[in-house]
Amino acid sequence: MEKIKIETKNVSIEFPGVKALSDINFSIETGDIRAVVGANGAGKSTLMKVLAGANPTYTGEIFLNGKKVELRNPAASKELGIEIVYQEVDMALFPSQTVAENIMMNKLITGMKHKAAINWASINKEAKETLDRLRIDIDVKKLVSELTLAEKQMVLIARAVQGTCNFLILDEPTAPLSTAETEKLFALVDHLTKTENIAIIFISHRLQEVLQICRTLTVMRNGEIVDECPITSETTIPYIVNKMLGRTFEENFPKPETHIGDVMFEVKDLSDEEGMVKDVSFYVRKGEIIGISGLVGAGKSELCKTIFGDRPKKAGKVILNGKELSIKSPTDAVKNKLGLVPEERRKEGVLIDESVYFNLSAADLSKFCDGIVVSKKKQLDNAEKYIKSLGIKTPSANQRVALLSGGNQQKVAVGKWLAADCEVYIFDEPTKGVDVGAKQDIFTLIGEIAKQGKSVIYVTSETSEILAITDRVYVMYGGRITGELETETTSDSEIMFYSTGGQK
Ligand SMILES: Nc1ncnc2c1ncn2[C@@H]1O[C@H](COP(=O)(O)OP(=O)(O)OP(=O)(O)O)[C@@H](O)[C@H]1O
Ligand SMILES: [Mg+2]
Repeated sequence: MEKIKIETKNVSIEFPGVKALSDINFSIETGDIRAVVGANGAGKSTLMKVLAGANPTYTGEIFLNGKKVELRNPAASKELGIEIVYQEVDMALFPSQTVAENIMMNKLITGMKHKAAINWASINKEAKETLDRLRIDIDVKKLVSELTLAEKQMVLIARAVQGTCNFLILDEPTAPLSTAETEKLFALVDHLTKTENIAIIFISHRLQEVLQICRTLTVMRNGEIVDECPITSETTIPYIVNKMLGRTFEENFPKPETHIGDVMFEVKDLSDEEGMVKDVSFYVRKGEIIGISGLVGAGKSELCKTIFGDRPKKAGKVILNGKELSIKSPTDAVKNKLGLVPEERRKEGVLIDESVYFNLSAADLSKFCDGIVVSKKKQLDNAEKYIKSLGIKTPSANQRVALLSGGNQQKVAVGKWLAADCEVYIFDEPTKGVDVGAKQDIFTLIGEIAKQGKSVIYVTSETSEILAITDRVYVMYGGRITGELETETTSDSEIMFYSTGGQK
């Protein structure tokens, strides 16, 4: 197959207060699977948006097979076979339409523009052929709203490769996926590069999987490319992290020395209306960090939201310091000094159009008042503290959160609750999409909270995180707690045993 090459020459982008890209010389040929890695805010998504025609103000030049091209709008990029799947898959799909309609969207839109009659039978047939070609098994007549996140992603990839596609950009596709779903996606990526004349650009903070599927590597730091190489046995995680952060960094999860006191928070026989949470009971002591482990779909997020009054409860009690709480809404939960960092940061975790400083004080505004008036100075002082301790990359505390990189938005979502004065903190997958350095910062701050005698509930499907920072673990499967384990004496395989429905 004839190779196609895209190349940027001295491409730069400047936003107010931020030089997001400086003289980027990046190139890739079809057949390659390229990893693009870098710390939060390094410029990965910005560079990919340039290639996708979504950052029209770039300076510098871009060449396709040596011929200069202008990528000033998404249509120009699509024309050249450059497709991107953004991380927020929901925003790119039409949930109330079928899988076939979503896959064939480009064709349908072109048809509508020319007022051509739509042949539904052929739309379904062509969509099915595309899925078959990719070996994806999803019913084309299903509504997109009925699909799992992983299936939605597959639909977007199918749409991307439905027309001509030479370059497929996947921006953090695996962040919300389970291990099995990730494996499926990797099989698809592998199949695509072998059977079609395509290059894949893959962005991820999970360096292990980068090494597993990519052939070449580009490392970015502060808007520049700092390393480019083929992936060989010498390309180790410490090597990559070193290039990313510009310093040696050893991932060590500091387990804080805390004094664990009496039981502070209890959930008894909790069930939700929908049947996703069934008879869940657990307790957390003062100064204790408990983990809620389990695979994607086990009901962990549903449990958090039910406790927090964000989903209807059917039965059960939530008890703080021996007193049963009446929580019917998140407002009730906050009044009772519970805090929840939710999983879906853009939708639920932050006020995307507000400033960084406002968000960092939004969980408990009363804390930042002088009398009855909110003091901007107090809010700004608080913001500076968390911008520093979490390494939030922003030109100032006044920046709109929407303009931060994905990982930095996540840090704001976490910082918002760290700043509030809660008794019980629930963190639902707080490290999703954050780089290795920031992950360490988040762990340190969670450790400090426990040290102050608060109760922490840490929810994740990453066993390594559970083993690193918790004192005790509850494992969920099918909406129920299937195991309770002491972190010190348990193991990866024991947690896996209970996560897959094992019983002893
Ligand atoms: N539209 C914009 N306006 C202002 N600043 C922006 C805009 N888009 C991106 N930035 C800034 O450019 C820098 C690079 O952001 P980018 O989203 O490319 O980072 P990233 O490498 O993708 O990080 P992450 O791993 O967190 O997703 C960041 O400092 C970000 O805040
Ligand atoms: Mg990004």
